[in-house]
Order: sequence, then structure tokens, then C-alpha cells
Amino acid sequence: MKRIVKKHRLAIRWFHWVNFPLLAIMIWSGILIYWANDVYKLGWGNKTILKFFPQSFYDALHIPYKLALGMAMHFFFMWLFFVNGLLYVLYTFISGEWRYLLPNRHSFKEAWLVVLHDLHLRKQLPPQGKYNAAQRIVYSAIIVMGFGSIVTGLAIYKPTQFYWLCAICGGYEAARIEHFVLMIGYCLFFIIHVIQVILAGWNNFRAMVTGFDVVKDTPVLSEEIIDDKP
Ligand code: HEM
Repeated sequence: MKRIVKKHRLAIRWFHWVNFPLLAIMIWSGILIYWANDVYKLGWGNKTILKFFPQSFYDALHIPYKLALGMAMHFFFMWLFFVNGLLYVLYTFISGEWRYLLPNRHSFKEAWLVVLHDLHLRKQLPPQGKYNAAQRIVYSAIIVMGFGSIVTGLAIYKPTQFYWLCAICGGYEAARIEHFVLMIGYCLFFIIHVIQVILAGWNNFRAMVTGFDVVKDTPVLSEEIIDDKP
């Protein structure tokens, strides 16, 4: 028999869906800023394997060459991104949701089994709970990455006032590279996250919108979900 159970709290869903457009705006406005001095590439010496970003990228996305607009948007929306992330972290700790999110001592071993299972190299799925081991690691890592973006962002935003942050990041140039690498990290996370969401199916996605999940009434699953307080 199927039944409806609570899965994601309202606050978590708000933080999650508010974060999505905010992060998109931060990446977009960040590219508008980066365009003015786009020095990064993968390669060595004069050899370039990949340039971030080639002219064709700017052309394809119709990136308007508006540095001032990019800076204005970036420095405004960064506060909303920061406040939303901070509230999410505080709420997660106060509500006890962190128990489902933080990796535990089995997570690193189990995450490997999740990867093998997802690659169809292993039949058995490791223990799931609300989030499996791979999800716990990745969802926690994305919070650390958000923190990293704020720190490296402040370091390159006000390198004189935050000279000590700059020093912690290894200097202005290093902080700028770290800030950029984190952005690439979000894009990779986003691609994998959305693929996983599509693979997990409509029920899983709907749960992140409505908060409810439809589950088959098996004893193990219901025990775990009952544990998730309303
Ligand atoms: C189209 C965009 C997105 C979709 C469709 C989406 C969908 C989802 C879904 C369905 C879940 C629940 C996963 C589950 O129950 O197994 C989830 C969780 C999560 N997503 Fe996304 N997501 C999107 C964008 C993002 C972005 C941009 C980020 C952050 C950079 C993000 C970070 C997270 C985190 C941290 C969780 C765990 C939330 C918690 O329970 O505290 N998502 N997402």
C-alpha cells in the first residue's frame, strides 16, 4: 500500500529554492565581471587546452559586456546569498536536520558503494535513510563551498580592509582563483545534482516542492521516515 509522508520541511524547501535563482544570478553577474579580465585557462606555457571562457561562449550566451552592471548585481545579491545560506545552516542545526545531512563515520565507505551502484556495477544499494552517504557528503560539501565563496569573495572585494582574509586565502591572486574554481564546482554540482534528481524521479522532485513523499509501506522505510519529525 502507498501512503503520503512528510519529507522536507517548509523552511528547508524555501532555503533550497531561493538559493537556486540567487546562485544563478551570482554566477551570471560573476561572468560579467570576469569577462573584463578573463585570464584563466587550462594548459601550460603557451599551450592552452581550455580557455575560460572563449569568445564563442560569450557570443552563444549573449553575454552583455557590462562590467558595472555585473559588479552592482554581484555585490547586491551576494548579501542575499549569504543571508539565505546562513539561515539555512542555522536552521539545519537548530531543527536537528543536520543529523540527516552531515556525513557519519560510515559515509565515505558507503559513498563509494553508492557510486558503484549508480554505475550499475553493484546490485545492492547501501543504507538510504533520508539521504544516502554520497548525498550527505556532497550536500555538506556544497555548504563548505558556499562558505568558501563568501570568504574568497570578501578577500577580493575589499583586499585592503580584509587583508587578513586575503592572507588566509594565500594572497589576492590565489583568492581570485579559488573564487573562480568554486564557481566551476557549483556548475559541476548543478549538472550532477539535476541528473540525479531526474534519475530519482518525479516523486523525489515533488517532495522538494510540496514537502510530501509517496512511499510504499515497507517496515524499514516507514521507520526511517517516522523518525523525521514534522
Ligand atoms: C533545477 C535546480 C534544482 C533542482 C531541480 C533541485 C532538486 C532537489 C531535490 C529534488 C532535492 C531533494 C533530494 C532528495 O530528496 O534526494 C534537493 C536537495 C538539495 N539540493 Fe537541490 N535542486 C536544484 C538546485 C540546487 C542548487 C543550485 C543547489 C546548491 C548549490 C542545491 C542544493 C541542494 C541541497 C544542499 C539539498 C539538500 C537539502 C536539505 O535537505 O537540506 N540544489 N534538490
